Amino acid sequence: MKRRTFVQKLCATSLLLGASPKLLQAQSMARITPATATPGFIPDIEILLRAEVGEAALRDGEPTKVWRFAGEIMKGPQESLQFLHGSEHIPIIRIRKGQKLRIHFENHLPEDSIVHWHGLNIEQRMDGHPMYAIPPGARYVYEINIENRAGTYWFHPHPHERTSFQVYQGLAGMLVVHDGEEEAAGLPDMAHEIPLMIQDRSFDDNNQLVYIGPMRHNWMMGFRGDYVLVNGRVSYARTVDRTAHRVRIVNTSNASLYHLRWSDGSPFTVIATDGGLLAQSREQATLTLGVGERVDVWVEFSGFQAGEQMHLLAESYTPSLQNITAEQGGADLQEGARPIASFQFSDQAPIQHAPPSHLSEQPVLAEREAVNIDSPRPIDIAMRRGSFYLNNRLFGAMQDVPEENKVKLGSTEVWEFSNDSSMGMGMGMGMGAMMQMAHPMHVHNVQFKVLSRTGTRQDDALHQRLRAGFTDYGLKDVVVVMPGERVRVLMKFENHTGIYLYHCHILEHEDLGMMQNYLIEA
Ligand code: C2O
Ligand code: CU
Ligand code: CU
Repeated sequence: MKRRTFVQKLCATSLLLGASPKLLQAQSMARITPATATPGFIPDIEILLRAEVGEAALRDGEPTKVWRFAGEIMKGPQESLQFLHGSEHIPIIRIRKGQKLRIHFENHLPEDSIVHWHGLNIEQRMDGHPMYAIPPGARYVYEINIENRAGTYWFHPHPHERTSFQVYQGLAGMLVVHDGEEEAAGLPDMAHEIPLMIQDRSFDDNNQLVYIGPMRHNWMMGFRGDYVLVNGRVSYARTVDRTAHRVRIVNTSNASLYHLRWSDGSPFTVIATDGGLLAQSREQATLTLGVGERVDVWVEFSGFQAGEQMHLLAESYTPSLQNITAEQGGADLQEGARPIASFQFSDQAPIQHAPPSHLSEQPVLAEREAVNIDSPRPIDIAMRRGSFYLNNRLFGAMQDVPEENKVKLGSTEVWEFSNDSSMGMGMGMGMGAMMQMAHPMHVHNVQFKVLSRTGTRQDDALHQRLRAGFTDYGLKDVVVVMPGERVRVLMKFENHTGIYLYHCHILEHEDLGMMQNYLIEA
């Protein structure tokens, strides 16, 4: 135990990162027995999910070596497991609320891994906390009661210090939950549902993925890609009918933030955020999506001509809010943004639909029930000694929970994330730039309500512009906290006790230790 703490400290303070064999060895000593199948658990859907080394066509030319999820349905309908349209390596799992899901996860990678089900309210042992990482060749059996409401969730590896690398290599998938309430709303589905996963990547001359080097500075800045891929493709395109569609958008990039709009200037009709459907749809001109965030939009294509095209345009930003798209220039730019997905209209006769006026009943999450409404639990973000700290701490030993990170099952709390960029002044120019970062903060096991966002720089046009695209409504599990901002969120700890995480979802930051355990106690 002592030795492990020492090795972790050593690693956290050294300038170089990456596979520290000592560290991996030390962690394997404390290995927890992987979960196996329970005879009493009768799954509705059972899947064999492998994480493996393979290749995929990400852009024209040579196939790219990737790490990928692949799998088979062992029980349940074939539609329960497919690849995203356009992709050869990004799965989408579909299930209904109330169903039981068993996943046999097999690690065929050359290193430890474990899968986290992002957004789910789930038992501790099924959450994919890094303490459960399994070695190459091992298997971990997930048995999950799907308790979440209909929504767009996702999954990705979560082994400590390797999450960023493994996701970058291609390991991510969508997890869509359906339910009766969603059906009653009568939303477009099947061929009229368009899941889009956004990720940025860089390639070498042989079409192979290029990731950032081991220098701490690069990790603090976060990975920035030269290309924005949708569903694993550079220049994603799809033919669609001229009717209403539901578009599910998820940002699973390592670090980049996107500011999205439609090429024809029409606003987005937002129908759902991270935790499912809103009560009513809302219109906004643009969408700003930090890492991990999801937005579902309703889009009506009936006004277009057959053969015509519409594009989803994106500007990408680094966590320090540099406009990558503008810097990269290039012929595909449209007024500072570039098309990342193109929709070409089929010659099917157009059919018009209006979004339903009522989408869903919002789960009750009452501010007056919060135990700490007048003194929100502070989560302070600060940079010191080449790392980002949460409440002055880096992620420590796997199972250690700081005394003040304990909450009560059944309680409702307000948390306040503060991205106080005034701290750590006088650290030199490079450091100064790093302070000014937007951090997408994520809490495991809950869906929260955003109560307030204050401190947005009034004098900064970019901050104002990005802020206009945030979807601070409905239920969320990630919220982007801009430099100087304080964001208060309300959440209730339900159904499960145990150790869960909260962290910055910039994967490089998370791996640098910008992550904390918290404990839900009975
Ligand atoms: Cu998608 Cu711990 O996160
Ligand atoms: Cu998560
Ligand atoms: Cu961060």
